[in-house]
Amino acid sequence: MTSSFAPNRLQGRTAFITGGSSGINKAIARRFLEHGARVVIVARERNRLDQAARELGAAFPDAVLAQSADVRDLAALEAAAAAGAEQFGNYGVVVAGAAGNFLSPAEQLSSNAFAAVIDIDLKGTFHTFRACHPHLAARAHLIAISAPQATVPMALQAHAAAAKAGIEMLVKSLALEWGGLEGARVNALSPGLVAGTHGADIFCQLVGAERLTAGQPIPRLATLDEVADAALFLASELADYITGHTLAIDGGLTLETTAGANITAAARAALAASRAAPPRGSAS
Ligand code: COA
Repeated sequence: MTSSFAPNRLQGRTAFITGGSSGINKAIARRFLEHGARVVIVARERNRLDQAARELGAAFPDAVLAQSADVRDLAALEAAAAAGAEQFGNYGVVVAGAAGNFLSPAEQLSSNAFAAVIDIDLKGTFHTFRACHPHLAARAHLIAISAPQATVPMALQAHAAAAKAGIEMLVKSLALEWGGLEGARVNALSPGLVAGTHGADIFCQLVGAERLTAGQPIPRLATLDEVADAALFLASELADYITGHTLAIDGGLTLETTAGANITAAARAALAASRAAPPRGSAS
């Protein structure tokens, strides 16, 4: 699908994207390339990273650089950020997208398992922004990837919920510190269930996408294109007056708590029953 935005929204800008070899972050990298950016993609697994770089580079030659690094390793990210800035120039956009997740009952999570997700998601986001900070262009847009679990608790997700909630507060803190004279904008994008991603697959395999999204105001999965366009908006000058904000692109998934959903269902049932009943005063 082509983007709905005017062309070349990111012409001449360099973007640094962690987790850029797959899923949401690869879709974001492609969208940024389509809009004239040069892109540094960073991921842990070399083979998958090289494959993504070949795929993206085929359509956008000389605009893609692959740097292998684990976001848990600040020194490795600093080296990747320096190499990317050296080749393509300072970063107008940074996307901290690398994430890890799995479903697990909290009482069965080892300390190491809890730490793995905190370290990849939360520390990895901080490391990404911290490593890019010396190489930020003027008025840079920094984007973290959050998730609905940051604000709506979900069973089997204590580790991911804690990490993503931390990310949303980190974003606000950095927006305060790095705004002003530095002029950076720091925001988060919070995608719900996105078709074609590992994140959605682990939930959809439980009960299927249709049942999973049935209660959402927009009862379907998001597409990668929709998420990429939301990231493009936050990365572009269209978002120049937005900072410290989390933009949900979740079909309304986070609008209701479980209690709220129960009340909605009860209210709908009561309304349907009252409409089905004969009007008051009518002859029986
Ligand atoms: N359920 C419970 N615990 C798990 C787990 C799962 N599915 N996957 C990993 N862990 C635990 C491990 O058992 C280990 O704890 P232990 O030392 O007490 O045994 C700890 O987490 C670290 O695991 P390890 O595989 O060494 O970590 P890793 O850094 O290589 O990978 C993840 C961690 C989260 C990236 C890994 O689970 C993974 O590959 N997930 C799928 C890919 C993914 O998450 N993509 C992004 C989706 S948003």
